[in-house]
Amino acid sequence: MTGPPADGPGRRPRYRGTNPREFREKYKEHRPDRYADDVARVIAGGRTPAGSHRPIMVREVLEALGPRSGEVALDCTLGHGGHARELLAAVQPGGRLLAVDADPIELPRAEARLAALDCGPGSVVVRRMNFAGVARFVAAESPGGADVILADLGLSSMQVDDPARGFTFKGDGPLDMRMNPAKGPSASDLLSRLGESALARLLAENADEPHAAGLSAAILQAHARRPMATTRALAAAVRDAFAPRDRGPGGAADDSVRRVFQALRIAVNDEFGSLDALLRDLPACLAPGGRVAILSFHSGEDRRVKSAFKDGLARGLYASIADQPIRATPEERRANPRSTSAKLRFATRARPEAVRD
Ligand SMILES: C[S@@+](CC[C@H](N)C(=O)[O-])C[C@H]1O[C@@H](n2cnc3c(N)ncnc32)[C@H](O)[C@@H]1O
Repeated sequence: MTGPPADGPGRRPRYRGTNPREFREKYKEHRPDRYADDVARVIAGGRTPAGSHRPIMVREVLEALGPRSGEVALDCTLGHGGHARELLAAVQPGGRLLAVDADPIELPRAEARLAALDCGPGSVVVRRMNFAGVARFVAAESPGGADVILADLGLSSMQVDDPARGFTFKGDGPLDMRMNPAKGPSASDLLSRLGESALARLLAENADEPHAAGLSAAILQAHARRPMATTRALAAAVRDAFAPRDRGPGGAADDSVRRVFQALRIAVNDEFGSLDALLRDLPACLAPGGRVAILSFHSGEDRRVKSAFKDGLARGLYASIADQPIRATPEERRANPRSTSAKLRFATRARPEAVRD
């Protein structure tokens, strides 16, 4: 299990050179409460401090959702809690925040951050669960539905940046990729189970990989020679499938490494299955007139959100939906490159009399 490095006397991680490079060596970034100035310098440099996540398009999300005091807000993807704390503040006084996340490692930390805001007993209810099952949680906690719902899809920076979670090709770690490491097969297990055509399909469907067939064969051959247990081994197998001239920094091999990791991560966590279930249940989770906003980060996600909202509008479940996705401002893209691919869509739940079947 992973976690912030200890930074008591004599226990700080040692590192080579002037500045820490590895995730676990960045003990100051892991302690923003103690090293606020150092963390502010990292953010000013356009980077995300280790062990943290900068919420994306906060102003645009709040404008789309319009949370009001006394309302019930549901955050389906709590992460570091950046959006959640804004929603919680906006529904005060008297409002409640319901929040879920599948990640058992980060969830208690985010829950503690929200508790420290001290908004009063019962104002925050947090559950570790997949948002595919969030309808049951809402029915139990707020039978009339939630007034505002947010889903900020994909991974948090804490998950991506920590090599121990197995999501990143930038450092070495176990080939895991599970948001909940206690549940289901890891990425390495998945490679042992998949045939060549199934892996090729997965690479094409989950990440639009143009070399899906060739890479699938290369990855599975390497896995058969020696079971791939690390992220470095997978990245190397993908790079080795390219001619040497394409293996340089920013070359075609790098793009494919990124897409292969994305495709496997989506499969390991059944991200599309969970998103489809959430989109199906959203109307039942929203109070009449309630608002939902979804931040997506690649075409496979955005296609699903767009189509579900259009379908809900046609069926009278939604009274209105966003015509076009909203994008991060150029300033935000510069300050936080992770916002570049974000698309925000929103919808408003119809009042019951408008529903057609
Ligand atoms: C982009 S981060 C959210 C960041 C958050 N908005 C913030 O401001 O810190 C996405 C989070 O959603 C969680 N997640 C992704 N898919 C999920 C699912 N199907 N069910 C529950 N949580 C999920 C991930 O574990 C991750 O913590």
